[in-house]
Amino acid sequence: MPPILPDEKRELLVILKTATEILEHIKTDPNDIYIKDEIEFAGKVQVTGWIFPCRLYVGDHTMGFVAHLNCRDTRSKPMLNLNGLTCEHRVNPIGIDEPSPRFSWILNSDETNVLQTAYRVLVSTDADFSKTVWDSGRIKSNRSVLIAYDGEPLCPSTRYYWTVEVEDNHGITNGACPEAFFETGLMADGNWPALFISPKNENDPTRSEGWYLSKTYEIRGAVASARIYATALGLYSVTVNGIIDENYLLAPGWTNYNSRLLYQTIDITDSLQIGSNIITAHIGTGWYKGDLAGWMSKRCVYGNRIGFSMVMHVAYEDETEETVMTDETWESFPSPVLYTEIYNGETYDARRETDLSMPPKSGGTGPVVLLDMDRSTVCAQDGPPIAVHEVLEPVELLTDSQGRTILDFGQNLTGWVRFQVEGPAGSEVMLKHGEILTAEGDLYTENLRAAKQEILYILKGDGIEEYHPCFTFQGFRYVLVEKYPGTPKKKDFRAEVVHSKMPPTGDFSCSNPLINQLNHNIHWGMKGNFLDIPTDCPQRDERLGWTGDAQVFIGTACNLRNTASFFTKWLRDMRTEQKPDGGIPHVIPDVLFDAAETDDLLEGAHSATGWADAAVICPWTIYRQYGDERILEENYGMMKRWVECIRRQARDEVIWDTGFHFGDWVALDAKEGSYFGATPNDYTATVFYANSADILSRTAALLGNEDDSEHYGALYRRIRSAFLEKFYTPSGRLAVRTQTAHVLALHFNLVTKEHAQRTVDDLVKIIGEENGHLTTGFLGTPYICTVLARYGRLDEAYKLLLQEDYPSWLYQVKQGATTIWEHWDGLKPDGSLWSPDMNSFNHYAYGSVGYWLYTTMAGLEAAENGPGYKIIDFRPRPGGGITSASMRRETPYGLAEIIWKLVGDEMTVIVEVPCNTSARLFLPGQRDAEILGSGRYERKTIIRTGGISV
Ligand code: BGC
Repeated sequence: MPPILPDEKRELLVILKTATEILEHIKTDPNDIYIKDEIEFAGKVQVTGWIFPCRLYVGDHTMGFVAHLNCRDTRSKPMLNLNGLTCEHRVNPIGIDEPSPRFSWILNSDETNVLQTAYRVLVSTDADFSKTVWDSGRIKSNRSVLIAYDGEPLCPSTRYYWTVEVEDNHGITNGACPEAFFETGLMADGNWPALFISPKNENDPTRSEGWYLSKTYEIRGAVASARIYATALGLYSVTVNGIIDENYLLAPGWTNYNSRLLYQTIDITDSLQIGSNIITAHIGTGWYKGDLAGWMSKRCVYGNRIGFSMVMHVAYEDETEETVMTDETWESFPSPVLYTEIYNGETYDARRETDLSMPPKSGGTGPVVLLDMDRSTVCAQDGPPIAVHEVLEPVELLTDSQGRTILDFGQNLTGWVRFQVEGPAGSEVMLKHGEILTAEGDLYTENLRAAKQEILYILKGDGIEEYHPCFTFQGFRYVLVEKYPGTPKKKDFRAEVVHSKMPPTGDFSCSNPLINQLNHNIHWGMKGNFLDIPTDCPQRDERLGWTGDAQVFIGTACNLRNTASFFTKWLRDMRTEQKPDGGIPHVIPDVLFDAAETDDLLEGAHSATGWADAAVICPWTIYRQYGDERILEENYGMMKRWVECIRRQARDEVIWDTGFHFGDWVALDAKEGSYFGATPNDYTATVFYANSADILSRTAALLGNEDDSEHYGALYRRIRSAFLEKFYTPSGRLAVRTQTAHVLALHFNLVTKEHAQRTVDDLVKIIGEENGHLTTGFLGTPYICTVLARYGRLDEAYKLLLQEDYPSWLYQVKQGATTIWEHWDGLKPDGSLWSPDMNSFNHYAYGSVGYWLYTTMAGLEAAENGPGYKIIDFRPRPGGGITSASMRRETPYGLAEIIWKLVGDEMTVIVEVPCNTSARLFLPGQRDAEILGSGRYERKTIIRTGGISV
């Protein structure tokens, strides 16, 4: 038994209790558990495996796990067990319409060098596997990720159980396999059966109020299972007998509703009762009808009337079934939500609340009308749902210059405030949300532009009342309590952190607390902006799916959380928005379609370099991170059309020098008063064009399309030659003298081998001219440390990373940032602010340096030839005085981990290689990599002074 440290005692007992239960389950003696790893944790326990050898994750799983424990029965023979069973990247998903869903599993063994040699998947409609619909047979294969179903056609609304047997290279087969299932949705294939209804009086495009739609249904017997399949024009939530499932917030999310409207599948089995059941939908304005792109005063982008549609499917215990749907017999009545807008907030009059577990009062309801709409666009939700993932208490109550209370949650976040209040009917609570305070200690809201972010709650005067908004969200750290009956107290307010459900997969830390805070800010930038789509920012009147931002951050995001489904969905959104000429809009969903005519800044409404290239870079990154080939198949057409769109515009098909571009957006080498960095457009455009052609060629090869692969490979080589000819002098000097130009040439391998050294030397010189600071914008920043490290200037990479004065990553940290800022100097050293026109304090783009922290400083990355981490490269690169770093990464094959520590000049490196993968360990200063099979290893090496390695 390991020693129990006093502080950890309580948590450890929790673990042991959990472990004891596990042991009891398999009838083994609890004393035989041993805990292999050093324990270093705080918070809750999450058990992700229950058969030996099992792995217990410790930590608040919403914050990322902080430690893990390997437990096993010491008396047992070597065993092979499975966990992490997922279908379409999700654990036991319900409501999927994918005709050929894919299965993944994780092998666990207490042997080393374990590789799967064969598998057999069984899928059945019963848990005993007597009604098999697919038996893959024994397949000799080491593949354990994303195996596609290939059995009988799947039926709608059906639960399928699946299991897998595997064999490994030690001749061991797995023990019992944890139960896993997936459940199909309506599989209506473009024939959504239910009608869309809207309150008869919801007919004013300028109004933004909430409505209830309701109907009572009789349930005639015991229910085995029941589902609601629902969607809305606007936003909705459903209550069944007053019970709401809060796992589906802000549904149906945001897509281009005219071509793709997603329905959610909600398990309501436990909410139904025999006899009368009241189903009530609450609907609101949302992205469908509400204000969008506030600076362009857009409204009703998709329609001017909100509505709702649902199918309820009930399976009785007597094996009969029943299906009911929305129709003209439903009734409508106004909800307490008097006003609701994504940007502006909500007004809620609690005096108008009704008990939703009772039928609406007679006389209080009105009719509904049927909406005439194209129902062929309705399809199953393919991205993760939005939910509350964390709850924060205010760290402090502050007082502003007028004596009013300001809640400080200590963290810039996205979500809303849930509060409790008691007071007379008609009294009010008014909350205003902002990211920072002024020097005088007042709430600063100018950078929100037209977005109000205000909540007004009118009390019903009925004891303690509790409220949180439902059809809006706010970006904030501080909340001004402008109105409140009585004195606001900390205990009455909670910030609920809202984002798409994406399991945490990565945990980084190092010996430098400022870098750890930077990593914290990067993660919170992600949480704040991954809300159904990847947004630029969550607070001002924008919150749009800017493609460029997503493209630069996706690699970092994939390390921190599992974003496979999130990007699968967003890329499908993108496909529906591709222009007939192959162009890709600046934002997805595209609400800036007419920007070229209406916006002063945007001279083109689509197809800007580095932004539109998200169409190629994002599918490729998801493939590389998760081994998901289908995302390439699905998006291949879009990728090709985009490259063709550039080819047609490019001079001689090779130099792209036309069109509107954001270029190296908000770079510090921009002219005074401009957002456009100094690197010329034909340069950045040609670089990104080359990269997209190269990725396209490699994708074609993977998909077995040799002709395309050769064609685009040749195109890439032509672009590269033209690029070299145009931008390099014969002596090998890059003619564009910006940091970003040098970074891009190196990062995208456009420079020739012989000229690479000069390009790096020049880059270092230019950085030196800025006194060791960066001037890069959106396009150069993600890769500046990467290229310096790759080309032998790790020292310079660390110098840049560790700069603490403006402009630098750590300048923000030292200024107290808790998320990543849009501008290096959002808040200037003298306390003044960047122009409120464009000054978000929660903009993840510059957080793309996270990728470098995980893959270079800590040194854990999927190898070039090992997509999805089938082959892992461990390449720790210590430097900058940092004495330790670690990265834990939940890969599709299980946990991979690296921990390194420096004591004097001795470096200790511990790595963990998951089963069914192999790894290459490159130790600093050593010429050859060590090839490792699965297992945990410790190595030592001596580091040369300064920690600079080859
Ligand atoms: C957004 C950016 C975006 C940019 C395009 C801004 O308003 O916030 O993040 O990429 O516009 O230039």
